[in-house]
Amino acid sequence: MTNNSTSEKRGNFTGKLGFVLAAAGSAVGLGNIWRFPYLAAEYGGGIFLLVYLILAVTLGFALMSAEILIGRKTGLSAIGAFKKLDKRFSFVGILASIVPAIILPYYCVIGGWVAKYIAVFATGKSHAAAGDEYFGNFISGTAQPIGWFLVFLGLTALVVLFGVEKGVERVSKVMMPLLVIMIIGVTVYILCQPGAIEGVKYYLIPDFKHFKATTILAAMGQLFYSMSLAMGIMITYGSYMKKDVNVESSVHNIEIFDTGIAFLAGLMIVPAVTASGADMGKGPGLMFAVLPKVFDGMTGGVVIGLVFFVLVFFAAITSSISLMETVVSIVKDKFKVSRTVSCILVFVLCLVLGIPSALSNGGILSSVKIIGLGFLDFFDFISNSVLMPIVALITCLFIGYFLKPKTLIEEAELEGNKFKQKGLFTVVIKYIAPICIVLILGFSVLEALGVIKV
Ligand code: TRP
Repeated sequence: MTNNSTSEKRGNFTGKLGFVLAAAGSAVGLGNIWRFPYLAAEYGGGIFLLVYLILAVTLGFALMSAEILIGRKTGLSAIGAFKKLDKRFSFVGILASIVPAIILPYYCVIGGWVAKYIAVFATGKSHAAAGDEYFGNFISGTAQPIGWFLVFLGLTALVVLFGVEKGVERVSKVMMPLLVIMIIGVTVYILCQPGAIEGVKYYLIPDFKHFKATTILAAMGQLFYSMSLAMGIMITYGSYMKKDVNVESSVHNIEIFDTGIAFLAGLMIVPAVTASGADMGKGPGLMFAVLPKVFDGMTGGVVIGLVFFVLVFFAAITSSISLMETVVSIVKDKFKVSRTVSCILVFVLCLVLGIPSALSNGGILSSVKIIGLGFLDFFDFISNSVLMPIVALITCLFIGYFLKPKTLIEEAELEGNKFKQKGLFTVVIKYIAPICIVLILGFSVLEALGVIKV
């Protein structure tokens, strides 16, 4: 995607289907299967889901449309696109480009956990993995979390270095539908377990007493993360899109795809928590602590668990490859170095930020806290809850008051296409999104500092 510098013409998605599949491929990853369920469990279940869905059809829709349209209009990726539209806003492109560099290292840490669980199931140790202490012991070690992080990072780097993304992408085109079928199958099994219904209620019925400013902030951060927004990715994708493709309906398709998979993953994992008697506050470890218990109770659970983690691995590695590819091409352009040198630089960056993240979840660095968070949680917080909202805010203000929404609406309506929700688009970009983001950021900072209690 990002490395087709050899071809002069950028519009290289054959049509809408190609575009939607590529963008959905970037969007669907660990965010949907690992991150969404644990946030939903932590932030009140139904209320989190409700807030997320409302944000997806308003903020998510407007921002994704805006980014794709900026890319298509300029034919450039984030840094160049903002520069071309308005020199004063070049910094937004740069700010957006920092985000994938913060996400990539800890993404590889979680990818390493997935790889570890493949090995556990492949070597028949799945029963031990169902034990209460297993995940905690693994993660509080030193060699293990670092080793598996290096495995995952190494694989990602190899693919990016040798440019064999296409092969991996082709495999994952088969794997992704299988993953969806698998999630549905496992969900049905879990829903038949005693105790699961409590989790279903918790997940589906909003309870307003769980509502806090941080619920919205977490849902908003998750929306950006899951849909790869506010980091310039969708601008790059848009720059490859042909002018006759309908942007609005493409955005709807990507959103339905992405949200659908996250919803299913939540429906699988949240009831599994109540059925297995674990607690909701497991955070990033939730999937790994809970699912082995479920597989352990199933007939053929060893094989099913193995297949499941392999599928998740593929969803994860395709995302980490495009994250790394993004960072590599930014470093390459910015510092005018070769692709190989850029790969090495990014690899080193991943080591520097990733190793502390790998050791921060009960391991030897778990007592090191930045604003009360361990390394992994801190990188996650800084990118999703701080940088991305800020990038989104400035993007909205820029489009709303400098570039004007009309410019992008015209881009959407080229070649006889209609932009049906242009009213919603304009109102969200100009008023709703900026006001909400400022309020949410403000309240969350105050809440985090303990100034207010919501
Ligand atoms: N959206 C991806 C997920 O849900 C993660 C992600 C964030 C990503 N930014 C990206 C993937 C850039 C590819 C490219 O897991």
